[in-house]
Amino acid sequence: MAPSAATASILLALIAILLPSVTAAAALQMRHRLGASLQVASLNASEPPTTFFEVDRPIRPPRGSAGPCSTLLLSATFGATYGRPPATAAYAPPACLGDAGGAGALALAVLEWAADCRGRQFDRIFGVWLSGAELLRSCTAEPRPNGILWSVSRDVTRYAALLAEPGEVAVYLGNLIDKTYTGVYHANLTLHLYFRTDPQPQPPPQQQQQADLIVPISRSLPLNDGQWFAIQNATDVQSKKLAIPSNTYRAVLQVFVSFHSDDEFWYTNPPNDYIRANNLSSVPGNGAFREVVARVDGEVVGAVWPFTVIYTGGVNPLLWRPITGIGSFNLPTYDIDITPFLGKLLDGEEHDFGFGVTNALDVWYVDANLHLWLDHKSEKTTGGLLSYEASGLNLNVSSEFTGLDGQFVTSASRHVSATGWVKSSYGEVTTTFNQRFCYENINVFRKNGTVQIVNQTIDAKSGIFAKDASAVLLSEEFHEVFPLYLYTGTSDQADDEYSLDSIVKFGINGKKTSGGKPGFLYSSLRNSQSAQGTMRVKKNLVVSGLGKTHQVYKYVGTDGCYFRDVSSRNYTIVSDRSDDSCSKRAYSSVSEKLNDQPARRKLLANKL
Ligand SMILES: *[C@@H]1O[C@H](CO)[C@@H](O)[C@H](O)[C@H]1NC(C)=O
Ligand SMILES: *[C@@H]1O[C@H](CO)[C@@H](O)[C@H](O)[C@H]1NC(C)=O
Ligand SMILES: *[C@@H]1O[C@H](CO)[C@@H](O)[C@H](O)[C@H]1NC(C)=O
Ligand SMILES: *[C@@H]1O[C@H](CO)[C@@H](O)[C@H](O)[C@H]1NC(C)=O
Ligand SMILES: *[C@@H]1O[C@H](CO)[C@@H](O)[C@H](O)[C@H]1NC(C)=O
Ligand SMILES: *[C@@H]1O[C@H](CO)[C@@H](O)[C@H](O)[C@H]1NC(C)=O
Ligand SMILES: *[C@@H]1O[C@H](CO)[C@@H](O)[C@H](O)[C@H]1NC(C)=O
Ligand SMILES: *[C@@H]1O[C@H](CO)[C@@H](O)[C@H](O)[C@H]1NC(C)=O
Repeated sequence: MAPSAATASILLALIAILLPSVTAAAALQMRHRLGASLQVASLNASEPPTTFFEVDRPIRPPRGSAGPCSTLLLSATFGATYGRPPATAAYAPPACLGDAGGAGALALAVLEWAADCRGRQFDRIFGVWLSGAELLRSCTAEPRPNGILWSVSRDVTRYAALLAEPGEVAVYLGNLIDKTYTGVYHANLTLHLYFRTDPQPQPPPQQQQQADLIVPISRSLPLNDGQWFAIQNATDVQSKKLAIPSNTYRAVLQVFVSFHSDDEFWYTNPPNDYIRANNLSSVPGNGAFREVVARVDGEVVGAVWPFTVIYTGGVNPLLWRPITGIGSFNLPTYDIDITPFLGKLLDGEEHDFGFGVTNALDVWYVDANLHLWLDHKSEKTTGGLLSYEASGLNLNVSSEFTGLDGQFVTSASRHVSATGWVKSSYGEVTTTFNQRFCYENINVFRKNGTVQIVNQTIDAKSGIFAKDASAVLLSEEFHEVFPLYLYTGTSDQADDEYSLDSIVKFGINGKKTSGGKPGFLYSSLRNSQSAQGTMRVKKNLVVSGLGKTHQVYKYVGTDGCYFRDVSSRNYTIVSDRSDDSCSKRAYSSVSEKLNDQPARRKLLANKL
């Protein structure tokens, strides 16, 4: 909500954050969505721009690979771009890719988004597509008057087949410019390629990491929007009909998801009976459970229980500066292996690939890439479904409230499992894909609705098991847990002033094991943020505020390790320690070491 021109002069004297209008039940009504922040008082043109970042492990080229060969794909300015066609550029495979021997020679491909902005602007969602296949879903950083910079790198090696063909790059970033929201985003999109130097023998077909063909399940250009589908309510199913090659032997759906507007904080939404009883016309409801369900010809093939990404303007924008929220610059994607269902898709006819969101409110942006592996020695593969079990969703809500105070406990589970065979010139392979989800959410309103506490856990397990007559070819298991704790409380409310305190603790705990012919692979990730903020708000403007965030990232895998422990306070990094060795010593006694480094801490603080 944009403040009127009359408030603009007040802004000049204050650290101001644009807020939606405030009503009596402040915690309820404000939701957790605040606008762009300003720091006009400290505007100093000679101060360097702030660099924002998402903590992630570095993408390392495989040992002995050559590169990078870097190509600028697109350079664009995003001013008044909302509801306009995406920025596009023709894509030609870089000459170095052809010289190296094509997609098969690719060791690593990295897509890098680098952008800057200055002024005042909301966080904006954007997508990057190549020939209709989404490569990156991301959220912009919110600018400061002295400017900000940030970059995002994503491993796009699995798109090798697409990168080897001519196509079109499209970026949709819907931005609005007016007297208040002045921030224009400038961005460069670059592709970095690395190649194998010692020609290795090609692995057998069943173990090839990269698909032969990537079919987008998204909207086609021309469009005045992103190529994602916009899912607006619980009954809205968006789909695309397409035929797949008749010699496909493996198929994986990669799903992109982001949630906005009434569902940006879906996990905090109260049930509708509470909203009705309290006459809360502007509070989004439908309860706190959501899931994306993927269907082929109407049949559930899998689901996505998404990670609760908090965008850069969420809860308290000061929390995400300069360390952005987990996943906000590089939204996670979710794989659903649909190989067991290939039998009915190999008839050369069109089939319907659809997505819906359980309990959805306006709006969810969803699309997918269908990764297909093809039999190069035959024109026709055959297959059949051996077993299929999709229990449907179990959802249970217990609701207790009196007036604006209450407690809602929601639990949910879902199980999907399918086994099918596919016969190709590489043999007859039986594949099982299964998913098992559990969810619990406790949503509490206290102090006449001015305090809200949400504690949620999503637990998602999936597995792929493939075997032929003689051996297990692949056995993969993934387990991810997404814990979330969110506290927001308003206090000292008087006339048009109040204070807002917030605490956010959330993260991703993941484990992946993979066995079978390629050997044993293992990785484990613990990535958590703990953030706390306060704001004093007057007439919808934040007159003072402070955010601090602590993040610990720990990855241990057969492919390497990475550890980082970083803290920020009031826009400044106050401690930062990282290590990429796999020795236990590297990250055992973190807390002592942090307290042990005053000199270094000072140095870092001065630099920023
Ligand atoms: C609770 O909030 C409602 C509306 O926000 C207000 O009308 C009511 O007076 C409040 N009750 C108390 C006890 O503060
Ligand atoms: C502006 O920033 C520069 C560099 O940080 C500093 O040297 C200078 O004193 C600042 N000026 C004001 C007026 O704060
Ligand atoms: C984009 O690339 C141009 C040319 O190299 C450079 O001048 C500009 O600073 C870059 N912009 C960003 C945001 O990285
Ligand atoms: C749900 O959204 C679809 C697509 O916008 C629309 O056609 C339909 O009327 C909506 N249904 C309800 C119940 O609002
Ligand atoms: C809600 O609105 C209705 C009709 O305007 C009114 O009768 C009722 O008392 C209101 N309930 C509350 C809790 O404000
Ligand atoms: C739903 O939850 C309530 C309270 O937690 C419990 O008593 C009830 O057995 C649950 N129902 C189902 C079907 O799980
Ligand atoms: C959230 O709930 C879980 C499980 O009920 C509990 O273990 C955890 O301590 C809670 N977190 C907070 C911060 O209250
Ligand atoms: C935050 O930093 C600014 C300078 O960037 C300073 O003026 C302000 O007092 C700091 N606030 C707190 C609460 O430390």
